[in-house]
Amino acid sequence: MKTLEIAVVYGDGIGPEVCQAALDVIAAALGPDQAILRFTECKAGAEEYRRSGIAYPEESFAGCRRADAILHGAAGLPGVTYPDGTEAGLDFGLLTRFRLDLYANIRPIRLFPGTASRLAGKHPGDIDYVIVRENTEGLYAARGNGVVLRDEVATDSLVLTRKGTERVVRAAFDLARTRNGAPADGKRRVTCCDKSNVLRSYAFFRRVFDEVAARYPDIEVDYAYADAMTVHLVERPEHYDVIVTENMFGDIISDLAAATVGSMGMSPSAEIGDRHALFQAAHGSAPTIAGQGIANPYGTILSAASMLLWLGERHRNETLTRAGRAIERAVAKTLAEGKALTRDIGGRASTRDVVDAVSGRCAPTQSVMKNVLS
Ligand code: IPM
Ligand code: MN
Repeated sequence: MKTLEIAVVYGDGIGPEVCQAALDVIAAALGPDQAILRFTECKAGAEEYRRSGIAYPEESFAGCRRADAILHGAAGLPGVTYPDGTEAGLDFGLLTRFRLDLYANIRPIRLFPGTASRLAGKHPGDIDYVIVRENTEGLYAARGNGVVLRDEVATDSLVLTRKGTERVVRAAFDLARTRNGAPADGKRRVTCCDKSNVLRSYAFFRRVFDEVAARYPDIEVDYAYADAMTVHLVERPEHYDVIVTENMFGDIISDLAAATVGSMGMSPSAEIGDRHALFQAAHGSAPTIAGQGIANPYGTILSAASMLLWLGERHRNETLTRAGRAIERAVAKTLAEGKALTRDIGGRASTRDVVDAVSGRCAPTQSVMKNVLS
């Protein structure tokens, strides 16, 4: 088995802490098989911009493009902006999405046993769905290309293509086929979240959604307007299985959704294209708590687990698949035991406490056994 290259971008704020936490857990899960992965740091983010005047050096992009997968902490610092007012540190995530065509942003929302929802009366088992956020077009396509005219008029265009919509909707239906359906009724369901009642672009999105859906007669089709969706995700999250939506709506509802399962710190993501993938938590760089060792690393650790699963499948490597599953199980077990809850989810654990607890529960089985099995 050849060594796989992982580009590591630590980023800003709590980024380096949660990223290191994930790397430590990966090391624990791989145990004696460490050499399967080689990690190379690539610099990018707001600090890098402050230091060098370039937020995302070409060399770092080349490193990310060369790598078999990318692991990221978090980027961006308020106030570190371009002359147009937008944040420089966000270039890393956004340009990587665009340039490596990472079109499906997979964001699982799950309330783990041992953690509490902020929604009254919702318990583990009630909330378990995935937001599939279109990740390369929509309103975000305008990044860096909006127009401000005479300081009087400002525009950013929302761009949807048939190809871009089809492929992300397909990803959502394919994902639904691998799941057990919605908690409420066990039905496999894909919900199209849009504003097709108001804008042509979204009506187009829904039309393409319907065309793709027709090829998946085994999956129930469902619709919600994005504004109403914010209410549904609070009132009846158990109805949802897979939700597919435009880039900006996906950004907004994934924060709301994360809050319903405890905290932004609990929300992983996997940003996947046909050839490349980027793994990072869905949260930001939380500069106000950076450097204190208290950041919640579960989102990044779960993202790292999905990286191992993605690599394991792609390269038909059982060791990686096993390590990815072991991390997921170890996270669930740690939380269920009420161990290592960080402040944002009602405990007092430090980032390090989480790493130790999860690492201790995901060490590989005896390598002798593994050699027998593989
Ligand atoms: C996310 C983040 C990013 C986004 C930022 C950091 C560019 O909020 O991944 O949801 O807006 O997409
Ligand atoms: Mn976001």
